[in-house]
Amino acid sequence: MERRSTKQTPIIAASILSADFAELKREVTSVVDAGAEWIHFDVMDNHYVPNLTVGPLVCAAIRPHVPNPIDVHLMVKPVDRLVGDFAEAGANIISFHPEASDHVDRTIELIHTHGCQAGLVLNPATPICVLDHVLDKLDLVLVMSVNPGFAAQKFIPEALRKLSTIRARIDALAPGRSIRLEIDGGVKPDNIGAIARAGADTFVSGSAIFGAPNYRAVISEMLEAVGEAGPKP
Ligand code: DX5
Ligand code: ZN
Repeated sequence: MERRSTKQTPIIAASILSADFAELKREVTSVVDAGAEWIHFDVMDNHYVPNLTVGPLVCAAIRPHVPNPIDVHLMVKPVDRLVGDFAEAGANIISFHPEASDHVDRTIELIHTHGCQAGLVLNPATPICVLDHVLDKLDLVLVMSVNPGFAAQKFIPEALRKLSTIRARIDALAPGRSIRLEIDGGVKPDNIGAIARAGADTFVSGSAIFGAPNYRAVISEMLEAVGEAGPKP
């Protein structure tokens, strides 16, 4: 018998890494008005990744201006001591890299204890087996289609195969368990259809949105391409 896909309603998560930081309040409200369901918030520490971005203060500053979920992507090591700070700053989803945490299961629990959803992030070279023993505790799996650290890099096509395999694993879990499958890096209108067909239902996009003259037009184009890709992976 064919198993039903667990793919959920598509969501565009706009990565503010490519936004105009001097105009952050206007940028987050514009992108949400244009159809981005989530704000993707990239946190880099110049230690786990070779770049330095923003922390809980900036998350707290944008929180009152958008009702939408803030999807925090922690590219920091260590992870745990920032979890409470981001929860307090208004994060809804907190994702982290298993290589940056000494105790992955404990970090997932810590995120849940703070009332947030928990995501695990797989770098291009991270094997899928890191999901063993923890997949059913996660709310989200984030597949990196670039090496983390910078916006506007080129999509690594191997991510498609990874998405299909992880989608099959999510489908195989007990029914009723909803886990989003998110992709991050190099997502654009011309590849998002293939990414959706591979099994992603949540799409991070930074430079393709913030670099476009019309946010609504590019987000609509992306959602249309996802719609055409159909509900099944
Ligand atoms: C990369 C970040 C991404 C990045 C995506 O380390 O995690 O979220 O901002 O940017 P684009 O869409 O430009 O690849
Ligand atoms: Zn990210």
